[in-house]
Amino acid sequence: MADTRDLDHALDHDADLELPPWWRQGVVYQIYPRSFADANADGLGDIAGIVAKADYLESLGIDAVWLSPFYPSALADGGYDVADYRDVDPRLGTLADFDDLVDALHSRGIRVVVDIVPNHTSDQHAWFREALAAGRDSAARERYIFREGTGPDGALPPTDWVSMFGGSAWERVDDGQWYLHNFAIEQPDLNWEYPEVRADFVTTLRFWSDRGVDGFRIDVAHMLTKDLSEPLPSQAQLDALPRDGMHPMVDRDDVHEVYAEWRRVFDSYDPPRTAVAEAWVDKARVPLYASRESLGQAFNFDLLQADFDAGQFRRVVQDNLELADASGSSSTWVLSNHDVVRHATRYGLPHPGRDERGAPLRKHGTEWVRSGGVDPVLDRDAGGRRARAASLFMLALPGSSYIYQGEELGLHEVAEIPASERQDPTFFRSEGADFGRDGCRVPLPWRSDGPSFGFGDDGSHLPQPEWFADYAVSREDGDPASTLTLYREALRLRRSLQTSERLEWIESGRDDVLRFRRPNGWEAVTNFGAEPYPLDRGHPVIASSPLDGGLLPGDTTVWLR
Ligand code: GLC
Repeated sequence: MADTRDLDHALDHDADLELPPWWRQGVVYQIYPRSFADANADGLGDIAGIVAKADYLESLGIDAVWLSPFYPSALADGGYDVADYRDVDPRLGTLADFDDLVDALHSRGIRVVVDIVPNHTSDQHAWFREALAAGRDSAARERYIFREGTGPDGALPPTDWVSMFGGSAWERVDDGQWYLHNFAIEQPDLNWEYPEVRADFVTTLRFWSDRGVDGFRIDVAHMLTKDLSEPLPSQAQLDALPRDGMHPMVDRDDVHEVYAEWRRVFDSYDPPRTAVAEAWVDKARVPLYASRESLGQAFNFDLLQADFDAGQFRRVVQDNLELADASGSSSTWVLSNHDVVRHATRYGLPHPGRDERGAPLRKHGTEWVRSGGVDPVLDRDAGGRRARAASLFMLALPGSSYIYQGEELGLHEVAEIPASERQDPTFFRSEGADFGRDGCRVPLPWRSDGPSFGFGDDGSHLPQPEWFADYAVSREDGDPASTLTLYREALRLRRSLQTSERLEWIESGRDDVLRFRRPNGWEAVTNFGAEPYPLDRGHPVIASSPLDGGLLPGDTTVWLR
C-alpha cells in the first residue's frame, strides 16, 4: 500500500519546498458514485460505499478523487440533473456521510473534487417547480429561459433548435409557454443574466469549499451565458455562425465574467480551491478557460478522441503543451470518462467513428451492439493491450491525468444491456439509434463472484455481464501481470516524473513509434505498430506488456531509465 500521507502534512510539506500546486501534475480518479460501491444494498452506489473503498483508492496512488454528481436527482441524466446543489441524494447518504468521505480521503492524502452543473437544473429543482407554479411573466420564470411559442396558438416551439440529446430543445408547459433545455427535457437551462442565479452558485461553491472540498469540475462550462435577443436565429444559422466569443449559444466571451467572480471565491480559501472546465470549444479558445483569471484548468479531450495512432497522439500532445504554455496552466489528459466508450473497447474495434460532438464510437457502438451479445468484431485482447499502452503513454506526459473508475482494471464497455434496462436519455431521445453512455457506467466488479461482483449485496442498477469476473479487483489485486498492478506501479513511479512540466521528443526512426524524454532523464517509448522496435539504450522501468528481450513489441509502452 502507498505511504499514508496526511493531507495537511502534505500541504505544509509542499509549501515548505515551494512545490507547484498539486493539480498541475496530479492524477485525478473519477468516481461515478452510483456505480462505484453500494454499501446499503439498494443496487445504487453510495457515499458510504466510497468510504469503504478508501484504502483501495489510497493503494492506487492517486492525488485526488473527482466525484460525478451525488446530489439529489431524479436521474434523468445520471445525476447531471441536479435537484438540490447543496445536499446529498438520500439514496446515496447524507451530508454527514459526505463529511466522513472528505475525512477518509484527506487523511490518506487524497483531495476531493466535486462536479458543479451550472448550465441547467433538474426539473425537480425547487426553482423550476416554482417557475411552473408562478406562471408567465413571473420573477420565478426569469431564472430559466421561457418564451412564447410560434405558429397558431403558439403550439410550435420558439425555434427549431435541437437538444444535445436529440429532439427539440424546447418543451411546452401547461400554460402554453416553452422553456429551453439544451440537454434532456428534465434539464431546463438556467438564465445566467439573472443575478440570483449567479449569486446562488457562489453560495454553492462556498458551501462545498467550507466542507473541505479542494476543487470543482465545471460541467458544460462553455454554455452558461447566452444571447437570446430577438429575433432568435434558426438552428442552421446557429450552426453557421463563427464561434468567436460572440456566438449566441456557446463559448461566449462573457462567460468568463462568471468565472472571474468564481475565481475570487476560489482564491478566498487557503489553499485556493481549484477548478477544471469541461469546455467543448475550439482549441484556440481553451486557454481562456484554463487561465488563472478564469477556471484555472480545462479538460483536453483530444487524446480521448484520437485513434490509437502515433501521428495523432504526437499532434495532440504537441498542440496541448502549446496551449498549456499559452494559458500558463498545465494540460489535462483523459482517455476515458463517463460519457464515452471505454478506451479498451475503442481500441479493439476496427473503425472508430465519431459522434456529432467528436466523441468516439457512439454510432459505431450501435452496429457493434446490434451484432449481438458478445461482439464479434471487438478484439478484446488487442483493445486491452493498446489501452494499457495508451495509459502508460498518458501517465508519462507532463500535466495532470484523469483516470475513470474501472480503467485501472482494463474494463471494457458493456454492450449487452437490454433496451428495457437502459437509462441514458440519449438512447431514448434518439429512439435507440444512439446506444448512449450506460455501457461505461455499469457498476464495478470488486469480486469475481457474488450477486453483483462485490458491488453490493442486492444487485446493480445496470446489469453486469458474466465476463466482469475476469476484471474483478480481487482477481487483479497482487497479480503482477494485471492492469491494476500496472496502474499502481505507474502511479508510484510517476512521482519521479513530476519534477518539471517539460517533454523533449526523440527521433524514433519510425512513423509508428513515439519516443520522448522527461527532465529526470527517463524516456517513454510507445510502439503503436505491429513490428517490434529495438530498444537501443536505457533500462526498462515499467512496460505495459512484457518486453521481448531488447525488443518493444507492438501496442506496447515502456519507460526507460
Ligand atoms: C456533461 C456531462 C454529461 C452530461 C451533460 C449534461 O457533458 O459530462 O454526462 O450529460 O454534461 O449535464
